[in-house]
Amino acid sequence: MATTGQGNKLLNTRLCELLGCEYPIIQTAMGWIADPTLVASTCNAGAFGFLAGAVMTPAEVDEGIKQIKAKTDKPFGVNFHMYTPGAMEIIDICIKHKVRAVSYSRSPAKSMIQKLKDANIVCIPTVGALKHAVKAVEMGADAVVVQGGEGGGHTGAVASNILLPQVVDALDVPVIASGGFKDGRGLISALSFGAEGIAMGTRFLMTQESPVPSTTKEKYIATSTEQVIVSTKLDGMPQRMINNPYLQQLQTKSPLGMLILAIRNGLEFSKGAIIPMLISAWKMKKANGMTLGETMMAGNAPMMIQEAMVKGHPDQGILPSGQIAGAIKDLPKGSELIASIVSEATETLARLSRLSGSEVKNTNNEESAESTAAT
Ligand SMILES: Cc1cc2nc3c(=O)[nH]c(=O)nc-3n(C[C@H](O)[C@H](O)[C@H](O)COP(=O)(O)O)c2cc1C
Repeated sequence: MATTGQGNKLLNTRLCELLGCEYPIIQTAMGWIADPTLVASTCNAGAFGFLAGAVMTPAEVDEGIKQIKAKTDKPFGVNFHMYTPGAMEIIDICIKHKVRAVSYSRSPAKSMIQKLKDANIVCIPTVGALKHAVKAVEMGADAVVVQGGEGGGHTGAVASNILLPQVVDALDVPVIASGGFKDGRGLISALSFGAEGIAMGTRFLMTQESPVPSTTKEKYIATSTEQVIVSTKLDGMPQRMINNPYLQQLQTKSPLGMLILAIRNGLEFSKGAIIPMLISAWKMKKANGMTLGETMMAGNAPMMIQEAMVKGHPDQGILPSGQIAGAIKDLPKGSELIASIVSEATETLARLSRLSGSEVKNTNNEESAESTAAT
């Protein structure tokens, strides 16, 4: 594996070596959000970005990778689901383009992981529970993103500061903390737990480069921490989202009400393709034990997310979000975000080192971290 992690030696961890980035900061994949522009800007700023390939066809992933390469010469990664029909094709595309890393979560396949590793591609699954972290390494993971329950999108039940040290103690590979991070203090807290970096979704969603329409970004800015709740109503799995009027409506629906809403959505958003949708929902219902309405709503989920995240109608669709949205009140450029995280992390280290009576040196520029932070 090539090792090119350099830059701020103070924050240099095994993750920087593994991914070839300057800082131990990952921009995670978010469907329809982690596009080539966001990924390239993240990587150009010294962090590491993942393209949201899980909502793309293999051809779109191929095109997305080409666009990233046109915008940066830094290493980057691709996220995808190993259980989807196009998974093997996406793997071949990642190998062809020599992408640095892939991320994945549900239903990993050992043979696919092996194929990626044979091609020298770093495999980094996201897990939300200790047992899944252990299993992920048994299956070949080179590093593991551990997402606490604060995190956005599908998420687990255990908070980051309980789950993270448990996973760090159990694994030898680099562990990356995720769920509820936004700044340099958070980065240092993660490193103090034994993690080797942080991975953030919501914080990157709320940047200038994120393609989310401004109406929807404003909704995130206006949200409070308490308004970001976990619900299984969208697709049967616990998912953290902003409790907007649409989700409030979903939360109170009976099975019949869900069915009616799902059919209405299907008619409105799927250009009338309601019959095939009903047939596939009926087949899925048999397999997963959910009601027909719940199964249809799960099928509608991508459309409902796009309604808010792509079309810019934040109250008429779904807004996946980490709780941290409630603590974010700005929309910086990606480069400003990374610089501020690094600066605050350095400052925090200097503050902590004063507690121990020692002084931290910034090996990047040979000045003390304290004086760097003060400028
Ligand atoms: C809007 C949004 C969309 C997401 N889409 C995906 C996705 O397509 N694939 C995925 O693996 N994770 C997805 N996630 C989860 C994030 O990649 C990441 O794990 C999570 O946001 C981390 O928690 P944080 O938001 O507190 O930083 C999404 C999260 C958000 C907020």
